[in-house]
Amino acid sequence: PPIHKLISAYDFEALAAATFTPKAWAFYSSAATDLVTHTANRNFFRRLMFRPRVMRNVKDVSTRRSILGFNNEVPFFISPAAMARLAHPEGELALARGAAREGMAYCVSSNASFPLASIINAGVDDQTFFLQLYVNSEREKTAILLQKAKELGIRAIFVTVDAHVPGKREADERIAAEAVASPVSGAVASNDKKGGGMGRLMAQYVDKTLSWDDIPWIRETSQLPIVLKGIQSAADAMKAVACGVDGIMLSNHGGRSLDTAQPSMLTLLELHRICPDIFGKVEIYIDGGVTRGADILKAIALGATAVGVGRPYLYSLAYGDEGVSHLTQILKDELETSMRLSGITDVDQAHPGLINTQDVDHL
Ligand code: FNR
Repeated sequence: PPIHKLISAYDFEALAAATFTPKAWAFYSSAATDLVTHTANRNFFRRLMFRPRVMRNVKDVSTRRSILGFNNEVPFFISPAAMARLAHPEGELALARGAAREGMAYCVSSNASFPLASIINAGVDDQTFFLQLYVNSEREKTAILLQKAKELGIRAIFVTVDAHVPGKREADERIAAEAVASPVSGAVASNDKKGGGMGRLMAQYVDKTLSWDDIPWIRETSQLPIVLKGIQSAADAMKAVACGVDGIMLSNHGGRSLDTAQPSMLTLLELHRICPDIFGKVEIYIDGGVTRGADILKAIALGATAVGVGRPYLYSLAYGDEGVSHLTQILKDELETSMRLSGITDVDQAHPGLINTQDVDHL
């Protein structure tokens, strides 16, 4: 269909389900075992209700937000996802171009299907790119990648901490496919005797010994701000702050790692209960299940600096970089409408009082 017929992230999802290769659809849409966390991420947003304010002159609104000191037109960004080439021949290049056009940050995966330099060069000068990192058990390879990231102007390293081993994603396991490789990490996903689990095969190089003691090494080697992606408890959020990281990303890997792990929005609520001071100390990002502009506003109102969007951007690649732009405009438009109807004109005015959490307060 012509792109303007798509008016929500769900429309892109339905189109991807119908048109992507069976392997691409299985790899992108799958999640760990019984999909409990995957489903809960999305459903949790529906249990948080707005408590709108009225009569506040909402003619002009601004969705701008700074992340780690860098300006963005929108308070959301592309979460890192491996192998975008499976969806479109231009894969990550299209993500970079679309993000550039919309003034949106893009966190490139360690398992991207194009070389890092090509992805950065597909964008524009002064664009905000982050690099997601899986630490290689051969540390020297990671050191080389981090130095390259700095040279290429990457603005922060998002160290993924929730996937030392891949979750068991059964839809991905069941479908074998052609081999695909990542020129960034060197990972190759091909078939093996157990089937074709791309997630499992790509994770083979990931260092399972990684611990809190490694953070200083990553910081010194990269000379860049460090964000830990995959924080799932207030205890670890506090530990991350004590380690001096620049940001934390509440995430359960889109339900792809430990199934029945709690939704990331519940972790955000727990920070309010257990360590409310954390909101002034570190930037907090969140992802998992974001499908509507209203979801984004709920996360921001509850203290998130910015929100990551994963699968919907992979699905938007059905239309290459135009799809990336169009999805961004849809989410931005929905966000603006939600802001106006809840009585705020700037994302900085969003606050917890706008959200009724009664339905989940007992959790
Ligand atoms: C991911 N995710 C991910 N995360 C990461 O740190 N490095 C990676 O290489 C990948 N790869 C990846 C591939 C695919 C196909 C998916 C769907 C996800 C997790 C991703 O960054 C993000 O946390 C989730 O996708 C967020 O959930 P939603 O927005 O997809 O619901």
